[in-house]
Amino acid sequence: MTGQDKQAEQDKRTGRLIVFEGADGCGKTTQLRHCYDWLRAQRFPQAPDSSQIILTQEPGATALGRTLRRILLTPPEGDEGVEPTAELLLYAADRAQHVQHILKPKLAQGCWILCDRHIDSTVAYQGFGRGLDQSLIQQLNSIATVGLVSDLTLWLDLPVEVSRSRLATRGQADGLRSAPQDRMERLGLDFHHRVHQGFEWLAGQYPERIVRVDASGSEAEVARRVQQMICDRLGLPPNSPHPNPT
Ligand code: TMP
Repeated sequence: MTGQDKQAEQDKRTGRLIVFEGADGCGKTTQLRHCYDWLRAQRFPQAPDSSQIILTQEPGATALGRTLRRILLTPPEGDEGVEPTAELLLYAADRAQHVQHILKPKLAQGCWILCDRHIDSTVAYQGFGRGLDQSLIQQLNSIATVGLVSDLTLWLDLPVEVSRSRLATRGQADGLRSAPQDRMERLGLDFHHRVHQGFEWLAGQYPERIVRVDASGSEAEVARRVQQMICDRLGLPPNSPHPNPT
């Protein structure tokens, strides 16, 4: 497909793809849910019916993806570990399935999609974190997405030490001891610093698509920043905040 064809395809769709990215423990999934509630409650004239505002995630949104997510996040039995290239290919496989079975058809129906992670996680985690070849990652991202790019990607930025300590205490508010960390979360501080550098690099490289959102402060404060950014970037009327986040 030529660049012009890709652009034409992009212009034809009426849906919107809004991606939330960031480090483990940055509050991304919580904010995605607040944003979903807010968008559904706002009834912006440009937005579709609330049933057409949907949530999805990578990895793990499709039937195949749910199996891949389990494999990716649970350490496999045995002591051979997971090769970084095998990990990269599994994330790419999840994405290819997600794009064809959820993202493209839903965008073509005019849905507004809020997606928890997409291509930039691969650049940050497998590229910067694991040190895999960036041109290979770009190639795989482009094969898996068939040229589909987000309308807006929000990078929820939090200092690495803060997101790590949030992860360490996750679950304690519910009276649980800290929740077990998954295979990726368990990687060391250096790895997560490199991932953070990756997101920083991406935001500088693609300012037309990726915006940094300060993820420090209360849930309500971050939710308002997210809403403001979406209104500004998608040309929505001035924002009235959703009352719920505390
Ligand atoms: P989640 O906990 O935000 O759902 O993400 C699952 C983990 O997978 C998280 O640690 C980030 C990681 N990941 C990658 O390493 N590469 C990717 O391409 C994606 C989508 C996620």
